[in-house]
Amino acid sequence: MRPTTSYVVTTFLIILICSSSSCLAKKHSHHHKTKHDKKPAPPTARKQVLDVEDYGAKADGKSDNSQAFKKAWDKACNSLESIKILVPKGKVYYVKHVDFTGPCYSGISMEIQGTIKSFAKMYDTPKRLWIKFEDVRNMEVFGGGTIDGSGEVWWKNSCKIKKTKALTFRNCSNLTLSNLRLLNAQQMHVIFQDCNDVEASKLVVEAPEHSPNTDGIHITRTSNIKILDSQIRTGDDCVSIVNGSRNVDIRNIACGPGHGISIGSLGEDNTENYVSNVFVKGATFTGTTNGARIKTWQKSAVQVENVVYRNIRGTSASKVAINLNCSESVPCKNVVLQNVMLTAQQKGEKVEASCNHLATQTTKLNSLPSCSLNN
Ligand SMILES: *[C@@H]1O[C@H](CO)[C@@H](O)[C@H](O)[C@H]1NC(C)=O
Ligand SMILES: *[C@@H]1O[C@H](CO)[C@@H](O)[C@H](O)[C@H]1NC(C)=O
Ligand SMILES: *[C@@H]1O[C@H](CO)[C@@H](O)[C@H](O)[C@H]1NC(C)=O
Ligand SMILES: *[C@@H]1O[C@H](CO)[C@@H](O)[C@H](O)[C@H]1NC(C)=O
Repeated sequence: MRPTTSYVVTTFLIILICSSSSCLAKKHSHHHKTKHDKKPAPPTARKQVLDVEDYGAKADGKSDNSQAFKKAWDKACNSLESIKILVPKGKVYYVKHVDFTGPCYSGISMEIQGTIKSFAKMYDTPKRLWIKFEDVRNMEVFGGGTIDGSGEVWWKNSCKIKKTKALTFRNCSNLTLSNLRLLNAQQMHVIFQDCNDVEASKLVVEAPEHSPNTDGIHITRTSNIKILDSQIRTGDDCVSIVNGSRNVDIRNIACGPGHGISIGSLGEDNTENYVSNVFVKGATFTGTTNGARIKTWQKSAVQVENVVYRNIRGTSASKVAINLNCSESVPCKNVVLQNVMLTAQQKGEKVEASCNHLATQTTKLNSLPSCSLNN
């Protein structure tokens, strides 16, 4: 028996035999004695680790590890103790599709040191989602590893089929996602939907400039979210913020190539749509088209308010570097561009700002290009 397995079995037996908490306390003191610890270990040091290989995962370049990942998740999710799931370093685990679903008894952390990769084939996934976390709270995903959607095959057929999104967090709260590389998503890379209290940091998101609809981070119906210290180079929006999102704080982001940071969905179906309190502070755009963009259909009911773009530098690959295109029926309120300096990527070219239907209380300070208002 492997040491981890025997530890799991022993712990399980102890839990079975013990029905009182005093017994559990004895177990811990015994544990400390055998390790000759002087001081009690901090809580994190005691966190139990589940290695996906102990649940059947094989980094053999051909196995589908979906079931193994799911088994490790179910074990962690049903545990009363907070557990860490480990995806080991230096290995590549192919996964066809997996749903990590809560609610769980306690917080889970997932340390992805190695690579989780999609098969380079097109196939159907439920709701067109490749990896989904749903109904989770107090969760962290980190580890320095990679999540690779093998999207090339999907991009070629982008007009013919509805594509799968790579990594979705749905109905989550108190989530941190950090220190990971996200590559070549089939479609969008990371989606936060119906989440609250999220911090995403130190992410590197990469897909070729020509890859269609490969948004870096897509935020929908999500509040209190921070996107920090990340680099995003894709074929579509660097960050897109749509329907029902508020309190979005984006700092120290490098974007481009891609379409920049955009707010507001197109609102084409005329549904209610609301985005408020978006702060973008300290961003560098490199060859993005429309670095700062608000996009709504003229007749839609998309309300965008309290948006600050501050300390933005960089280049634009298109003539319209700033495009604040608000709805005629519901103009944008309180949009501030402060210290935003964008120039043309091509030497000698000029860039411009296009602004439509900004409400009069909008302030704009010290930015180039600047808008002439066409209200
Ligand atoms: C959202 O997730 C929580 C667990 O974190 C769960 O209790 C709740 O029912 C979920 N809400 C919906 C609408 O599914
Ligand atoms: C949020 O989750 C982390 C674990 O990722 C936990 O340590 C922390 O206590 C949680 N915060 C709240 C307010 O529950
Ligand atoms: C926006 O969110 C609301 C619920 O908050 C939903 O009813 C509506 O369909 C959404 N609109 C779009 C365009 O997704
Ligand atoms: C603004 O949006 C309308 C569609 O509502 C579109 O026709 C127009 O071209 C857009 N303007 C810019 C500068 O993108």
